[in-house]
Parts: sequence; C-alpha cells; structure tokens
Amino acid sequence: MKGIINIRLRLLVTLIDIHRIPVYLGAILYALSFNILKLRFKFYGMITLPECVELHKIARKLPNKSVIVEIGCFGGLATAYILSGCKKSCFVYSIDPFASDIPSQKKIVMGYKNRNYREAEKVSLNNKPSKRMVSKKLKSLGFKNFQLIEGFSDTVVKKWKRTIDLLWIDGNHEYEAVKNDFFNWSPYIRKGGSIVFHDANKKDGSNYWKWGLRGPSKVVNKYINLPMWKIDGRIDSMVHATKTC
Ligand SMILES: C[S@@+](CC[C@H](N)C(=O)[O-])C[C@H]1O[C@@H](n2cnc3c(N)ncnc32)[C@H](O)[C@@H]1O
Repeated sequence: MKGIINIRLRLLVTLIDIHRIPVYLGAILYALSFNILKLRFKFYGMITLPECVELHKIARKLPNKSVIVEIGCFGGLATAYILSGCKKSCFVYSIDPFASDIPSQKKIVMGYKNRNYREAEKVSLNNKPSKRMVSKKLKSLGFKNFQLIEGFSDTVVKKWKRTIDLLWIDGNHEYEAVKNDFFNWSPYIRKGGSIVFHDANKKDGSNYWKWGLRGPSKVVNKYINLPMWKIDGRIDSMVHATKTC
C-alpha cells in the first residue's frame, strides 16, 4: 500500500513539475496562436510540446528554399512542426526505416539491450508507423514540400549531395550512431546553418538536466563547441546550435 502511494506521489510530482508550468503555458499559447496545437494529437512522436514549438520557431527563421533534413521521423510529429513553421519554398527530407525491415531494426535494438542502453526501450517496433501512413497524414494537412526516405541515415548519406540549412538528429541514439550521423551529415550544413539534437541535454557525469541520454549528450558535449559550433539554446532535451564557419 505504502509503495503504491509513493509511486503515485512521485508520478504526481513529475506531472506537476512546477518550474515547467510557465514553459508549458508559453508553448501552449504559442501553439494556439499559430493553430498548431492539434498537430501534437494528430501525429505520433517522442518530443515534448516545448520542443515541438522550438522546432517550429527554428523552421520559421529559415530563409526561402532552405533544405531541411530530419534523421528519425517515426510518426512524423517533429516533421509536421517543422513543415508548419518553414516557408512553402523550403523542402524537408525525413529519413526513417519506418515499418520496413523490422528484423534489421530489431537487431539494432537488441544490440542496445545487450549493452543495457535505456534508450532502446524508447522506440517500440510493434505497430511502427509506416511511411505511407505518415505521408498520408502530412498530405492531409496540405503539406507537399517533403519527401519521406525509407532507410537508414548512414546508407542515405552515401548518395546525398545537397547543402543543408537545418539538420535535426533524432534517429539511433547510441553514441557511435549519433556520432556517425553528426560526422556524416554536418559537413553538408552551410555556414550559418543549424543543427538540432534530441535527448542531448545532459552534462557528462552530472544531473545538469534530467532529459538527456548518454549517446546524444556525449556527442553534443564533445563536439558542439566553438570555434565551429555556437550553442543557441537548450529546451527540454533539445540542443540547438549554429555552424559558425
Ligand atoms: C526517437 S524516434 C524519432 C521521433 C520523432 N523525431 C518525433 O517526432 O518524435 C527515432 C526514430 O529513428 C529511427 N531510426 C533509428 N535509427 C535510424 C537511422 N540510422 N536512420 C534513420 N532513422 C533511424 C527509429 O526507428 C525511430 O523511428
């Protein structure tokens, strides 16, 4: 009985998380003002509302004809917020194996589990959204300026040629995988372009921020620094930086 009360209390405290109330209120007001709150409920995803709003803000600032790459689309939640923020002349490429090749995806997840990475639990492969389903939902909102690429980021990059204005990394969260995504894709980002990482807001060996996983956070702490990268902001587990040279 005492155990159950403790768990409920802990849940309540987590839910209330008083210092986050203004952040959430701000995000709700922003989302209402742009009529984008509904996206939160229409698309499956793993990012918080303040993070959705931050992606929308970053995308809004992008110039005409910007090229945006998302690694890790899942159900299209972040994709929808980026598409609703950027200009119609911009183009979003979103990479994910989606519901294809589940055996390969399982193998990767099992690889994590053997190493006790907690992030392995985050992406369920049961009922994984299909490319067709995500595409249909995005199109139903009138978005046309996107392409969903069914595959893994390290394969897709081999044929990649375009300069990137915004790179959003939220795929495989294992350290080596995030590091590969960073080193494979960031050379395509133009000077002044942006990079955004998810689950990356944790200082090494400290409780600097409760939302951050080891892999993405380690990449950010190790490689996202001056003179090449200037961190612009951190919101929840998201870290946003600009390429300075
Ligand atoms: C945390 S989810 C992405 C969540 C999504 N960005 C959202 O809006 O909430 C990570 C996704 O990346 C996919 N993924 C894993 N490894 C990948 C890779 N190498 N390239 C592309 N996608 C990958 C996973 O299968 C999963 O669908």
